[in-house]
Order: sequence, then C-alpha cells, then structure tokens
Amino acid sequence: MTEYSFEKSYAMLEVARQYIPNGIYGPRTPTFLTYGSYPCFIDRGKGSHIWDVDGNEYIDYMCSFGTNILGICNEEIDQEAIRQMQKGDCFTLPSSRWNEMAEYMVNLIEGQDWVVFGKNGSDVTSFATTIARGYTGKNKIIMAHGAYHGAHFWCTHSEYGIPKEYQDHVLYFNYNDLDEFKTLVNENRGDVAAIMLTPFHHPALGDMVMPAQGFYKEVREICDREGILFIIDDIRCGFRLNPHGSHVYFGAEPDMVCFGKAMANGYPIAALTGKENLKATAGTAYFTGTHFFSAVPMAASLACMKIIVRDGVTDYINEMGTILKSGIQQQAASQGININYTGHPAIPFMRFVGDDDFSVSRYFCGEAAKRGIFLHPHHNWFLSAAHSADDIQKTLQVTEECFALTKKEFNK
Ligand SMILES: Cc1ncc(COP(=O)(O)O)c(C=O)c1O
Repeated sequence: MTEYSFEKSYAMLEVARQYIPNGIYGPRTPTFLTYGSYPCFIDRGKGSHIWDVDGNEYIDYMCSFGTNILGICNEEIDQEAIRQMQKGDCFTLPSSRWNEMAEYMVNLIEGQDWVVFGKNGSDVTSFATTIARGYTGKNKIIMAHGAYHGAHFWCTHSEYGIPKEYQDHVLYFNYNDLDEFKTLVNENRGDVAAIMLTPFHHPALGDMVMPAQGFYKEVREICDREGILFIIDDIRCGFRLNPHGSHVYFGAEPDMVCFGKAMANGYPIAALTGKENLKATAGTAYFTGTHFFSAVPMAASLACMKIIVRDGVTDYINEMGTILKSGIQQQAASQGININYTGHPAIPFMRFVGDDDFSVSRYFCGEAAKRGIFLHPHHNWFLSAAHSADDIQKTLQVTEECFALTKKEFNK
C-alpha cells in the first residue's frame, strides 16, 4: 500500500506559525498526533471521508471530536441550515427557531423539563455548576478523577496562567467508587452542590469504564438524601447511545444534562436541560453569549435530532462499532498483541497494554493515517451513521497491516 505524504500540509503549518502561536493550538495541533504521519489541514469532507490539503483521502474515526454523527455535508441537515441562512442567522432578538428547538428538545430528552442553549460544551457544563450552586447555596462540585468537563477555569486540565483557587471547590473521587464518594460527601457535609459525571467514564488518556451495576441508583439516593444535584455531562456520548439521552441507556436519573458536539452534526450549539424545580434558578443565574441565539445551528440541530430518531442511528452506529471492535480484537489476538478496547462500540478507546506513554499507539495510528485511516493515538474514536460496512472492512485491512508493522517495530 502506498504511504501518503504531506508536503502541502507541513508547508501550510509553517505559514500558520508565522501568524498564529504554535500555528495550530489545542488538541488539533499535529504535535498531539504522530508528528509527520498525519496531515495538518483538511480541505474537504463527505460522509465518513475527509481529504487533506495534499489530496489524501481518509476514513475518519474522529468525526471532528464527535460532532459529525451523520457524516460531513449531510444533505438534509445542510438544506435546513441553508434555508435558515437565507433568512438570516444572528438577529438582535431570538429567531423563530427558538421555541421550535426548545420544545423539540425538551420532549426528546427523557425526564427533563427545560432547556437553555450555548455554543460549546464548556458553556453548559459551567452553567450547570452555577445553577447547582445557586439552587443549593453550596459550593463544592464533585467529579471523577481524569474526567474532562471543558476548558473553563473551574475544570480545565491546564494549569498554566490559571490561579489554582479557581478549582478550590472541586473535589475528586474514583469513578464507580461509592465509598470514596460517600467519604467526600461526609467530609464536606452541607457544602456539596453537585456531582457531575459523564454517562460512562471516558477519562483523558485512560481506559474507559462502564458504570457498575447499581452505581447510578445509589448516586441518586445519596444526592436525594444530602441535597446534592446530579448532573450528567453527555457532551461526548450524547446521541450515540440513546436519542433520549445517555442517562436513559444507563438508567440514571439526573437533575440536569449537558449536550453539545453531535447534537447539530458540526454546527455550533450546546444545550443544558434540567428538571422543573431548577427552572427558576436557571432563570435567575446569568447566562449569555453573543452567538448563543444564532438560528442556523438551531435549524441544523432540529434536523439532526429528527434524523437520529427517524433512522435508528444509535442502533446502526452500535452495529458498525461492534464489527470494528470485534475485527480489531481478533486481529490483535491472532498476532499475539495485548490491547484493551474499552468503552461503548460507538465511542471506543484502544490501548496497547503496558503502553503507558502511548508510543506504541502513536506508531500504530500514525501508520494507519499514512494508509488512509484517521484514528487518534490517545483519544477515543467516534463512529457515525455515515460509516458503511465497506468503510469498516477497508479499515480492518489497514489495521491488520498496522498490527503486523507494530509487532515488528516493537518486538511485541
Ligand atoms: C465530556 C465533555 N464535556 C465537556 C466538553 C467540552 O466541550 P467543548 O469543547 O465543546 O467546550 C467535552 C469536549 O470534549 C467533553 O468531551
């Protein structure tokens, strides 16, 4: 198989570095991937495929870190977005989509009675903590070690330039460890406003962990007993496990749920839903942003959510993800390579056992990228409704070759 080269990408990166610190920042920097084995810039995409600026084609398992659940340039969604664009996007007041969007989403998401809209996931995880603190009159937020809830000061994983006092009121426990959770609650009795959890644990740079049997039931009971609010951060999993919210998939009963990423197939919008008793507080707390009211992403999101329900998208993604998972597991086993393939098949995370610094993973995924399969070496992958059975088979042909190369390179 001919390996890709990336002359134009890396030339463009040099130009970017002249004008932009680091050229590309955040998790999209090429230094976060296998430098030299991936492109730096994407020219276009269609469905599950992307083409870089050198003209190389990939089957994309990152889906723009989760947004592209129905594939890039989905015609139905784009039609709705264009229809709204022709009427205008940003107005001085909310658009005629405002009520339509709110009504649809409140009816769709199980057990939730109101909704507010932001742009990025971080907007709504932060607002959920504001509501929790306002409603309970308490300060502390409990979350799981390693969990990512966004880039705002109260929860960012970065320390540089941020006074650590911003995180003074955040407490950590090990996901699934109810004893540790109870200890934190006891030690901070009367000052815990909320616990925020992702539907299953998908920590940064770590294996994924499913909730233990009875975990969410007991979390709910402790929250009720202690006057603590239970927030689910469904920004990464949302709409890939259950169209009515991933809490439904796991039988959890949260007070608020945060959504973003896949809810509009790449158009910028996030949402926070909540229970009736929190509505007045949500109306008292201050929440705004210049672009929070834009209409085009709402048109796209409405179309996206309706298609997810209509086409049974979560079942399909699960099916494709399961074929990928069993194919990869079989290939690794048949070559005597130990991997952990964790999480839900629609949002899997693959790791070589003992590969603590991800160097093996970086090699494996870099070789896959050079052969047209876009995987991430240390972030979970995403399946979409645009991934076909043919895509999965092509992917497995490449991963088979990459396992063999990895075995040779690392004497596995
Ligand atoms: C679980 C979770 N919460 C919150 C966020 C923050 O979302 P955003 O990057 O849109 O601010 C992310 C983003 O990856 C996420 O995965």
